[in-house]
This record gives sequence, C-alpha cells and structure tokens, in this order.
Amino acid sequence: MSERVAIVTGGTRGIGEAISIRLRDAGYKVAAGFGGDEAKAEAFKTATNIPVWRWDVGDFKACAAAVQKIEESLGPVDILVNNAGITRDATMHKMLHDQWIEVIRTNLSSCFNMCNAVFDGMRERSFGRIVNIGSVNGQMGQYGQVNYAAAKSGIHGFTKALAQEGAARGITVNAIAPGYIDTDMVRAVPPVVLEKIIARIPVGRLGHADEIARGVRFLVSDNAGFITGSTLSINGGQHMY
Ligand code: CAA
Repeated sequence: MSERVAIVTGGTRGIGEAISIRLRDAGYKVAAGFGGDEAKAEAFKTATNIPVWRWDVGDFKACAAAVQKIEESLGPVDILVNNAGITRDATMHKMLHDQWIEVIRTNLSSCFNMCNAVFDGMRERSFGRIVNIGSVNGQMGQYGQVNYAAAKSGIHGFTKALAQEGAARGITVNAIAPGYIDTDMVRAVPPVVLEKIIARIPVGRLGHADEIARGVRFLVSDNAGFITGSTLSINGGQHMY
C-alpha cells in the first residue's frame, strides 16, 4: 500500500491541528487547509513539517481547485476530514441573517463542497475514508446556537446519506461529535457560561483536541472498513444516546 493522502480542513488550529499531527504520526501524507490565519498556519507548518493550503471551504469552486492542487502535489486523496468550522453565537432575537448564512456555508456546505471534490476519485480507486466533525450541540441543541446546531445536526444526516452511497465502493463516511474541547473556540464562550457547561460534563473537564484526533485516526484506518454511517460521540458523558 502506498502512503495514503489525507486532507484535514481547518487543519492548522485547534482540533484540526491535533488531527493533522496524529495522522502524520500514523504515516499519512497530510495536507492541512486553513481559512485565514496566515501567521498561525506558517507557525504550524514550521513546527510540524505538514504542508498547508489556504482556501475558503464555503466556496464550491475554491474547494475543487484546492483538491486539484493538493493531488498534483501529494497524490490522490484517500482520506478527507471535514473539520473546519466557526461559531457566530447569538440568541434568535439578536442573530443576523449573515451570522446564519456564514455558519451554514462554512460548517455544512463545506462538507458538500469537499466531498463532491474527492468522491469521484475515491469511487474510481474503490477506497475512501471521510470523517465529518459534528458536535454535541448538533445532537442536543444549545442556547444561542440555532445556526451552529442546525449546521452540525445537518452534518450528521449528511454523513448517514453519503455513507449509503459510498458503502459498495469501499468508501466509509462517519462523523465524530465532539463535546466541549479545550480550544480557542470554546475558550471564547463567556467564562460564567462555560463554568455552567463544564459542571454538566460527568467527566468534569473539557476534552483535549487529541482525544478527538485519536477517534479520527481509528475511523480512517484501512481496517475500519465495516464502520460506516456511524457517529462517535466524544464528549465526557455530557450527552448519551
Ligand atoms: N438556558 C436558558 N437560559 C439561558 C441560557 C441557557 N442555556 N443561557 C443564557 N440564558 C438566559 C440568561 O440567563 C439571560 O436571561 P435574563 O435576560 O432573564 O437574565 C438571557 O438568556 C440572555 O443571556 P445572555 O446574557 O447570555 O445573552 P447574550 O446575548 O449576552 O449572550 C449567548 C447569548 C451569546 C448565546 C451567550 O449566552 C453564549 O455565548 N452562550 C454560550 C453558547 C455556547 O455554548 N457556545 C458553544 C461554543 S463552542 C462550540 O460550539 C464547540 C462545540 O461544538 C461544543
């Protein structure tokens, strides 16, 4: 087996950074995508030796172009981790239409854009591993997050539908639903709100990014071919079903 190629969107920061590093350490050729923070992406590239590409995951054509460039550089894409995501939290009566659109396009349309760009190649080669990063808040909802909860919940439905299309072609499609992980995104939640959330996590702490990355590494393994359409919840017991 040649070295497999993996794309991790939002792969230079937070959970994505941990996923990129873990897949690199497992022997994959990783391409890390990022949306805007050039300085962080350069620091990540220097520290990890993982190549980085900048594009907007919410832009359909930009995704196709990025996949083409990555394939020219690293080879055909075997693994796609749709991790890029943003929050624009606000209660309904304060949420702007732009905040709704921005979250839906970046967190959910991105999954369509990226899967559409890699799926033909995976079908031709009869192998693929797609992992979509959902959220506990897509499973149970969250005050102030109708946009984010809808996008993440959409990811879970998207995963089950695409899993059915890929199954006979050696392509698995799974989701991971992280709980509250110690990243910049969660640290941006007002401390008084975050304290109350942590109090409802039975394990009693925030998760670590690498605890999600380990799940991704498991799901993308060559020998994980019988796991598809599943959602792996990694949330410290905050939500069980
Ligand atoms: N349930 C019920 N009521 C709540 C509530 C809750 N969970 N949270 C707040 N309220 C109430 C407040 O008590 C307050 O009531 P009063 O007006 O009667 O005092 C009212 O709602 C207004 O609340 P805020 O003052 O918080 O309103 P705000 O406009 O200043 O802020 C908010 C709203 C931006 C949504 C803020 O509450 C917030 O940031 N919440 C955290 C949202 C969150 O958890 N985001 C997760 C981000 S990380 C992530 O998403 C990663 C992942 O996948 C897990």
